[in-house]
Amino acid sequence: MLILGIETSCDETAAAVVENGAKILSNVVATSAEMHAKTGGIIPEQAARQQIKSILPVIDEALIKSGKRNAEIDAIAATVGPGLIGSLLVGVETAKALSFLWEKPLVPVNHLAAHIYANWLGNSEHQTPQFPALALVVSGGHTDLVLMKGHGKLKWIGGTRDDAAGEAFDKTARLLGLPYPGGPAISSEAEKYLNQSSTTNHKPLKLFPRPLLSENNFDWSFSGLKTSVLRKTEILKNKKTKKLSSDNISILAAEIQEAIADVLVEKTLGAVNKFRPKSLLLAGGVAANSRLRAKFKLKIENSKLKIDFYVPPPSLCTDNAAYIAAFANFNYQPVLWNRVGANPQLTIVGEK
Ligand code: KG4
Ligand code: ZN
Repeated sequence: MLILGIETSCDETAAAVVENGAKILSNVVATSAEMHAKTGGIIPEQAARQQIKSILPVIDEALIKSGKRNAEIDAIAATVGPGLIGSLLVGVETAKALSFLWEKPLVPVNHLAAHIYANWLGNSEHQTPQFPALALVVSGGHTDLVLMKGHGKLKWIGGTRDDAAGEAFDKTARLLGLPYPGGPAISSEAEKYLNQSSTTNHKPLKLFPRPLLSENNFDWSFSGLKTSVLRKTEILKNKKTKKLSSDNISILAAEIQEAIADVLVEKTLGAVNKFRPKSLLLAGGVAANSRLRAKFKLKIENSKLKIDFYVPPPSLCTDNAAYIAAFANFNYQPVLWNRVGANPQLTIVGEK
């Protein structure tokens, strides 16, 4: 089945053509992140305006790059939530118009559940994740741990009580004077410290707390990290210039990244121990973080856990429409276009 995916939940405008939920024929992403970098975060109204400008050129480019004509597309899939309402509406209403015009089925897609399907992209059949699977979705606005008994059979078993993991990266990056989005910025600052200190004996990265680790649940809390980082930056800032030294920025970035990665890995592997799934799937923008990926791999290798670990290539972890199309392929439930609407409040397992 050939599916045209459309994704506009936040500051990316994306379209992709995917065959049978695995083979990417095209994957086009336009982002307004640079614009938001200037303001230090997303201004929803501006994100929506950018979506309107980009949506048709992006869809057009995705079709051209795929080498397919619209008549050859079997179905259209579009993110309906969660996300920013203005941004969501652009993708949803465009998808509805195309569904009506081209007379193609329309599949409404849950953005969070769809992130997980980046793990199906590019895989041949025998490499695809096996069920039951445990999936950790770590994005800018959400941190969710779900058990998957099959396609469409998701059970929520844990998540964040306050800020999402990506939000923690974004907010603490701002405290260090780093640009939005904070995750990649913190990651490259942290690399500087980790690379330079890999030959010397640097002290363990334990500056910031690892909340809820000893609790018998699969919950996280990241809001305290912000306060700890703020306190530390106040102490370390130069009294005259009120600025952090570049060395201190790198060390703090490494400490922040380690604190977030440690709790994500520990709690998730605790859930693997309890539920014994066949596969562990990492997904969402934060899954692009190289330290987090490496820690998961190392911990699993060093444990006796028998589990196949999947993490998509970094470019498929952050928002794109290829996984939207992949989700629709494996969860094929078309809805008549005039019954489809945006739902900014969706959770990973559906409506609240
Ligand atoms: O999934 P995503 O692209 O968009 C949402 O659905 O929210 O996730 C965006 C989040 C942002 O918070 C961003 O800072 C974070 O993913 N992120 C990263 C990295 N790349 C993106 N966090 C840590 N390390 C990265 N390399
Ligand atoms: Zn996302």
